[in-house]
Amino acid sequence: METKILQPNDKNYAYCANLLRNGQVVAIPTETVYGLGANALDENGVKKIYQAKGRPSDNPLIVHVADFEMIEKLAFVNDRAKIVMQNFMPGAVTMVLKKKDIVPSCVTGGLDTVGIRMPANEVALRLIKESGVPVCAPSANTSTRPSPTKATHVLFDLDGKIDAILDGGECSLGVESTIIDLSTEKTRLLRAGGMPIEVLEEKLGEIEVVSSSSIALCPGMKYKHYSPKAPVFLFLPSKNQVEKVIKAYDEHKGRAVIFALEKNKEKYGERTVYCVGKNDKDYAHNLFDLLRKADKNEFDLILCEGIDDSGYGLGVMNRLIKASAGNIIQ
Ligand code: TXA
Ligand code: MG
Repeated sequence: METKILQPNDKNYAYCANLLRNGQVVAIPTETVYGLGANALDENGVKKIYQAKGRPSDNPLIVHVADFEMIEKLAFVNDRAKIVMQNFMPGAVTMVLKKKDIVPSCVTGGLDTVGIRMPANEVALRLIKESGVPVCAPSANTSTRPSPTKATHVLFDLDGKIDAILDGGECSLGVESTIIDLSTEKTRLLRAGGMPIEVLEEKLGEIEVVSSSSIALCPGMKYKHYSPKAPVFLFLPSKNQVEKVIKAYDEHKGRAVIFALEKNKEKYGERTVYCVGKNDKDYAHNLFDLLRKADKNEFDLILCEGIDDSGYGLGVMNRLIKASAGNIIQ
């Protein structure tokens, strides 16, 4: 099958909406990362997602909606969910709620809950509206690879495996949504991401953080995720972080690249540096693209500056910890 990159125009919205209604998969842009979408109410379509991605089928999918009515059809909306809907949707937050029977268990990996998100992206919202169905979508990368933030990233991973990629340009945030569990008595953070928890807590009250990015050594963190081909080493924030990065770079015999904040770039002199931007938000925006770029340019070691856990930093550190698969330097 030929995978087409399609520009968002009337004809292509209609074409992609039709693919979704007919149980096919389409890659769609969102403000976080590209998703690999299918009609969440069509088991055949959902199965195609798992096949294309090479993803274990017990890992549940997030269902994307374009309006609140769709949410009511899929899940039991409690008071905290209403607060999230009123204040943060559309946006980079996914809420986990008790599901209604209409949601097939292949979407939720057999769980009695469902993850729901309304993306803040015009292309995604129009496609979902036009298709008339809720769209379940994991990130549109091959499992274990960095999530895609450009249509070309999706094509690189999934060329020949899906019909179409709707090209919405570069994702504005560049890191996946923050996932919160609202199905339990206490609100719990399941994944840090594109919506800082401090922002959510202003309206929702305290959110329980079960695994903070600083608990780097918990077992689940060892699994390969967000991985480029080259090993990633993460240098936690410390007084002599830059010196430690330099030492590792200089001791390495092959081709290393440093992911550094703009303020530190000069300190590395002639060494190869990819600048991740000025702050935590820039880092979140650039991280996946730079991991892929490092692969393309065949570096064999990636040395990343870690940052503080606040704001977007928590999501960034969570990805870096996973990408580093335990190669963490204090
Ligand atoms: O920003 C995003 O969230 C992107 C875009 C495409 O929306 N999607 C995304 O999907 O990152 P994915 O499949 O790569 O990650 C979704 C995560 C998985 O780790 C999955 O286990 C978790 O959400 N998840 C989904 N439904 C859940 C549920 N009912 N309970 C707990 N975790 C759930
Ligand atoms: Mg993913």
